[in-house]
Amino acid sequence: MDLYEYQARDLFEKHGVPVLGGVVAEDPAAAKAGAEKLGTPVVVVKAQVKTGGRGKAGGVKIAKSPEEAEQKASEILGMDIKGHTVQRVMIAAGADIVEEYYFSLLLDRANRNYLAMCSVEGGVEIEQLAVERPEALARVAVDPNVGIDEAKAAEIVQAANFDEETAHKVAPVLVKLWDVYKNEDASLVEVNPLVKTGEGDIVALDGKITIDENAGFRHEDHAELVDVTSEDPLETKAKALDLNYVKLDGQVGIIGNGAGLVMSTLDVVAYAGEKHSVKPANFLDIGGGASAEVMANGLDVILGDEQVSAVFVNVFGGITACDAVANGIVGALKKLGDAATKQLVVRLDGNNVEEGRQILADFAHPLVTQADTMDGGAAKVAELAAAGK
Ligand SMILES: Nc1ncnc2c1ncn2[C@@H]1O[C@H](COP(=O)(O)OP(=O)(O)OP(=O)(O)O)[C@@H](O)[C@H]1O
Ligand SMILES: [Mg+2]
Repeated sequence: MDLYEYQARDLFEKHGVPVLGGVVAEDPAAAKAGAEKLGTPVVVVKAQVKTGGRGKAGGVKIAKSPEEAEQKASEILGMDIKGHTVQRVMIAAGADIVEEYYFSLLLDRANRNYLAMCSVEGGVEIEQLAVERPEALARVAVDPNVGIDEAKAAEIVQAANFDEETAHKVAPVLVKLWDVYKNEDASLVEVNPLVKTGEGDIVALDGKITIDENAGFRHEDHAELVDVTSEDPLETKAKALDLNYVKLDGQVGIIGNGAGLVMSTLDVVAYAGEKHSVKPANFLDIGGGASAEVMANGLDVILGDEQVSAVFVNVFGGITACDAVANGIVGALKKLGDAATKQLVVRLDGNNVEEGRQILADFAHPLVTQADTMDGGAAKVAELAAAGK
């Protein structure tokens, strides 16, 4: 889960990373009040959207009075930045910037490690710098078991070529940023820019944090960071039902048990769908040991996707017995009654397959077609999805 800048700012503050005051506003009047509350001669009105390059898109504007903050907020709110509509702004205290630096810490999957990147040339052109002069962006491996301690911080600031005085000030901030990364279970912490002010202080002026949701059980407070208004409503519903669901952009709903089987189902449906110009509409893993109720919940979520015109249920019964899955389908269709209008192709195999197939055969629902194989099911569902589009 990516966080908004204002949420990152709050987490920075919580872990002792130096930040400036910031107030979130959803309308211009609140922006004015926020600027008054901050009380600094200059404030910066910043679009809160989960994408980079806000400044270049006109989403970061300076204001020299609360009235001007109100005016700038009215310009920025509602703006579209790379497909994201601005619904909130942060009014940030204005910094007297002398230099802008860059720092990020992220998961380095390829090397099974963490990677710190740092540059004395931060700011809005960092992407260009990374491409044109990669040597100006220091890359330092960080051992997850050690993290960024004083020694590692010293190594990073040296690799980035900070002058000695600045290096001494930046290094402790990097140690604090490690605290954020570790203690919040992040997979990315980025500060761009990290600045030196006229007073010689080091301050994080912009922050991006990605939280690893798999660690959510350790962080009850992270639930509050979820922005339900920007989440896909079906994903929110699936999350509430404890389902592993990812919405995609196609017409064929997919339900399977086990992530591996669901992924290969996506592949065969994508392949079979080429002929009919249809694609998988989602990833939904009902997991091992799924009950009839979980199956019914899964169908409920998928059938709520207006883009879906047919559904493929592909289950290999292991701990999950095929009869439970069949009962889940029957239960869901009974509950839906006349509201069920989409074709279902069901391929059951494995544990209790005979019982499962029999339950569906006895139910004899006009919308349900059974398939013997995964490829056969994929071909059938692609055909039905194209017909039902
Ligand atoms: N509080 C502040 N005071 C003064 N200047 C600021 C402040 N916040 C941002 N700026 C200036 O605006 C620039 C862009 O701000 P910021 O980095 O927050 O936006 P951005 O466009 O999201 O950047 P990117 O997406 O490239 O990380 C900064 O590089 C800095 O020069
Ligand atoms: Mg930035």
